[in-house]
Amino acid sequence: MAGILEGQKLRESTGNEKPFMTTTENDTATETLSELAARVSETHKKRYGRSPEFIVAAPGRVNLIGEHIDYNDGFVLPMAIERYVVMAGSRPDDADEAQSQYHSISMDSSAHLTSTDSPGSNPSAPGWACYVQGVLAGFQKPGRETPVLNVSFDSTVPLGGGLSSSAALEVATATLLEAATSTTLDMREKALICQKAEHDYAGVPCGIMDQFSSVFGKSGELMLLDCRSQEITAVPFGSDDITLLITNSNVKHELNGGEYAERRSQCDSALKKIGKSTWRDISIDDVEAARDQLSEPEYKRARHVVGEIERTTQAADAISAGRWEEVGELMYASHDSLSDDFEVSCDELDLLVDLARGINSEGGVIGSRMTGGGFGGCTVTLVKKDSAPALIDALITRYKAETGVEPSCFTSRPALGAHILPTS
Ligand code: GLA
Repeated sequence: MAGILEGQKLRESTGNEKPFMTTTENDTATETLSELAARVSETHKKRYGRSPEFIVAAPGRVNLIGEHIDYNDGFVLPMAIERYVVMAGSRPDDADEAQSQYHSISMDSSAHLTSTDSPGSNPSAPGWACYVQGVLAGFQKPGRETPVLNVSFDSTVPLGGGLSSSAALEVATATLLEAATSTTLDMREKALICQKAEHDYAGVPCGIMDQFSSVFGKSGELMLLDCRSQEITAVPFGSDDITLLITNSNVKHELNGGEYAERRSQCDSALKKIGKSTWRDISIDDVEAARDQLSEPEYKRARHVVGEIERTTQAADAISAGRWEEVGELMYASHDSLSDDFEVSCDELDLLVDLARGINSEGGVIGSRMTGGGFGGCTVTLVKKDSAPALIDALITRYKAETGVEPSCFTSRPALGAHILPTS
């Protein structure tokens, strides 16, 4: 899955204060939310000659389990992470100005946009602009005007790593428009406007998980999202001794970006051949019974979808009951299924999971798996908090020795979803 500012290097940390984070990390994005907001605000002032009137933040996400099933009516178990897109806006001096100006600080690129731009109408705009454009268009409706604004933004969500940097940008845009119009969108509508932006303006047929996570994130809680009914059940993270380690393999193997759409259409054709209207009515016995009608890829995708839906609800129950060992086993099973049946893993992700599996519970690892769309990007590893620093060292040394690539690691507890920040 393409991330917004793919290939873009994040800025160095500007300080040591960590009020919004309980993270251990080796990557360069060590800025806290308040530091990021202060820097975006300062840059905005210099660029437009005005202090921002509105500042908002929207987080990236990590998915603990339930992969490639949000577009298959399944359950997913993500959380927002303590990494954000921060966006600042002010009204232009000229009240007749017809176009908004959006400026990416780290990319040092700008786009002039309106809510009436159609998809692809702005071919010279930077790659990230389509996500913003799609949200501007989706926000606009009778009785709800999209305001003209001067905007600056930047991000601490690792880019192109499967942590939903693009969803964070979409949700930040929607939140800025809410702030600037004193509107509060229905949260589901907001997430769906952002998902539609990704479909129509970025051409990615994603499910609802990323945008729902960025909108609905709650501190200290995972969300069990039923992607059929769009209902969320809170799953408190519970233990203070356990955290999530996110390890970016820093590789990307998508051939042409069409792999995601291909998986999606294989699932759709398998569902049709099995003869049911939803994956929720399909058991593994139904898949086996239909095996002769399915192509080999369809059979394998179906096996993953049915198994992953079950694993995800089991994991939510196990977390609620504090049965962490069981959660770990479900995570490994999810990874194996994504690697063998859904075929969206790659050597580097398999290596990271194998290294974690080898370190095992004696070294503080509870479970590990690839997370997000796959073909590179990140793994998510459930770890004992005290063991995280030693684990990070071990993973970095061993992964680098085998691949020659240095992975980036950071820990995050479940974070608050999109919100408006104070302007001073
Ligand atoms: C990407 C998509 C999501 C989801 C995941 C895989 O992140 O944007 O909707 O399908 O891949 O679980």
